[in-house]
Amino acid sequence: MKTIREADIKNKVVLVRVDYNVPMDGGKITDDLRIRASLPTLEYLREAGASKIILISHMGRPEGRDKSLSLEVASKALSKMIPNVYFVADVSGPDVEEAVAKLPKGGILLLENLRFFAGEEGNDDEFIREIVDSTGAEIFVQDGFAVVHRAHASTSAIANHLPVYAGLLLEKEITNLSKVINNPEKPVLLIIGGAKVDDKKPLIDKFSKIADQIVVGGKIAADGYTGGGNIYVAEDFDEDSTGAKLDVGPLATSKIAGFITDAKTIIWNGLMGKAEDPAFATASTIVAEVMGEKTDAVTVVCGGDTTGFVENLMEDHPNLAYSLVSTGGGAALEFLSGKTLPGVEVVEQ
Ligand code: 3PG
Repeated sequence: MKTIREADIKNKVVLVRVDYNVPMDGGKITDDLRIRASLPTLEYLREAGASKIILISHMGRPEGRDKSLSLEVASKALSKMIPNVYFVADVSGPDVEEAVAKLPKGGILLLENLRFFAGEEGNDDEFIREIVDSTGAEIFVQDGFAVVHRAHASTSAIANHLPVYAGLLLEKEITNLSKVINNPEKPVLLIIGGAKVDDKKPLIDKFSKIADQIVVGGKIAADGYTGGGNIYVAEDFDEDSTGAKLDVGPLATSKIAGFITDAKTIIWNGLMGKAEDPAFATASTIVAEVMGEKTDAVTVVCGGDTTGFVENLMEDHPNLAYSLVSTGGGAALEFLSGKTLPGVEVVEQ
């Protein structure tokens, strides 16, 4: 992959695809991992002398303009992390041209939610050309790892108009995720949890060949998933007063902790129980702690619920560290399942 380190950034207008599709509750961002994860690229571009940095992103799945999904909230969050951040409530046309013209040297301008316009998901060449024209962009940086599994105008058609470079987040995600599928150090352990078995099936199938051990917990196990081969399905559960199985039980948790201790490459996707309720967060906490205390393994955490849980835990336990807390949900799953991602392909061309 060609990265921004190979690009001539000085005095250039740089268009950066980020993924600021962050979880929200009541108009507030509940997890800003994706915004924080974009900072190394933005700081690099500034230091390398970019004249203007234009950010593009989507949020949610709107049908037309929808105030509740405006990216203004993300620009406010970003401006608390890095100075000189501005927002414009459009993606092309006179307002954008004016906002770009007013942008000070090294300033960062976030455009409005791309998905307010059908051209984004339609991978429409004309739609993205207008954005390039209105912003005067000269270089494109692909850095929204979490959205590179979509062939949309801002991840795919954009490559018809500008030279494309990978940002530092994309590079970090791909480098670490590649390590776990290409010649990983053994033993390899895949830990699967969560509720939706169909989403996880391609990953389990792919890792049934790569992994020495696969563990299945969470609701998938509670619902009676049957393993076979190298798959260990949690055998006991903590229940609520109605008998609902809401967390992996102590016997299975201690077995899983043992697998983690022995492994040299570990991928975790999906919580072990209903971890938003502290009474049923024990197994997930133990998995996160045993994994995060390891210093002799590649450790990858992915999936929004799992990464959010781990990030919260890390706030109180600064001793925990992971090789990668991935910003990707579907993108990480697809990459690990061996699929070609359209937004990565355009960087490799
Ligand atoms: C995600 O959250 O997985 C990405 O931002 C992509 O969003 P999408 O699933 O709506 O395309």
